[in-house]
Amino acid sequence: MPLALAERSTLIAPSATLAMAAEAKRLKGQGIKVLDFALGEPDFDTPANIQRAAIRAMESGQTHYTPPAGIPELRSAVAEQYSKSQGLPTEAAQVVISNGAKHSIHNALMAVCGPGDEVIIPAPYWVSYSDLVKLTGATPIVLETTEASGFKLTPTQFLAAVTPRTKLLMINSPSNPTGVVYSRGELEALADAVLTTDVGVLSDEIYEQLTYGDVQPTCFATLRPGLADRTITISGVSKTYAMTGWRIGWSVAPVSVSKFMGDLQSQETSNPCSISQWAAVEAIAGPQDAVVTMKAEFARRREYVLQRIEGLPDVHCLPPGGAFYAFMNVSAHFGRTLGGKAITDSTSFCLTALAQAGVALVMGSAFGAEGFARLSFATDMKTLEQGFDALDRFLRD
Ligand SMILES: Cc1ncc(COP(=O)(O)O)c(C=O)c1O
Repeated sequence: MPLALAERSTLIAPSATLAMAAEAKRLKGQGIKVLDFALGEPDFDTPANIQRAAIRAMESGQTHYTPPAGIPELRSAVAEQYSKSQGLPTEAAQVVISNGAKHSIHNALMAVCGPGDEVIIPAPYWVSYSDLVKLTGATPIVLETTEASGFKLTPTQFLAAVTPRTKLLMINSPSNPTGVVYSRGELEALADAVLTTDVGVLSDEIYEQLTYGDVQPTCFATLRPGLADRTITISGVSKTYAMTGWRIGWSVAPVSVSKFMGDLQSQETSNPCSISQWAAVEAIAGPQDAVVTMKAEFARRREYVLQRIEGLPDVHCLPPGGAFYAFMNVSAHFGRTLGGKAITDSTSFCLTALAQAGVALVMGSAFGAEGFARLSFATDMKTLEQGFDALDRFLRD
């Protein structure tokens, strides 16, 4: 008899973004040229000062176990950043360093959710949210938002979905996949609604430093007195500092939640990589000029992407206020034949675009939003130019 898997194994599907990236890689392996816009990771190298900090850490023997919740220097640097820059008074004991923000979200959900609980997730949502909620035994309650309403959850929608079992609201601004950034006023209205309930909030702010024009990110926990006592803020170095492979993320939470998250890590993974933690100290506390340069380049690409989308037949998109994604509405192509294939939904659209045009996008259905395809512009200009040329030809086929 083959070893039977636990029931839990039916709860999660492989991450669709990683699956599309794997398919793109498979085609590339066969010598097929793929213009890859599937993965959400900056194409820049990690800034040199951060790399050097990692080398220094190795050379000075920082290669052993660290405290499971992270080195005090990094926890303090994160706490100081929230206290000074975000206006959220934070102690180091509230900060837990994990193996990337995804791990922080998992541990946070493990800390506060379990069977019988409900977690409200506005759609479109980042691919991992609903599966990570299911892993805890809780039930994701997905609330659809529309393009017409700017893909934003309203307080009325939130309040209508709250039940005695609702444990958490998950919000993500700037958002992956839409790039939507809630205004301060919109988040204040949501915060006021939350405060009329017993619901906690997980606010994923991983793209906080990547906003464009006069769009400003907002740290949700700061908005109203008392909100920090029921909010878990998630962020990390992956996106801002082009450090996806280093695997450093963090949570800022009430001390009791953080204590559990640290204990969980002590049993589950022990500390995040010691060298990466020292690199992250440099990322946060060191010079920030590389961030300014990367952000300017993302802004340039965003302009280009928006201009090219405008030229694509029957495709449109809400201009992203932050992050590095364009969430393109491609639904006008459903019911048509492109590249000899019938296009019926976002999956057939993306699979056909990959097979026929060599363009890798991610289907909106993976984010709980049929009708869309996500394009990541964390890609060099040349690839973007070629990708849009190929998409344009494909759509005019
Ligand atoms: C919204 C959102 N949250 C969290 C993460 C995870 O970041 P990390 O690579 O640090 O685990 C991502 C990565 O794509 C993301 O888009």
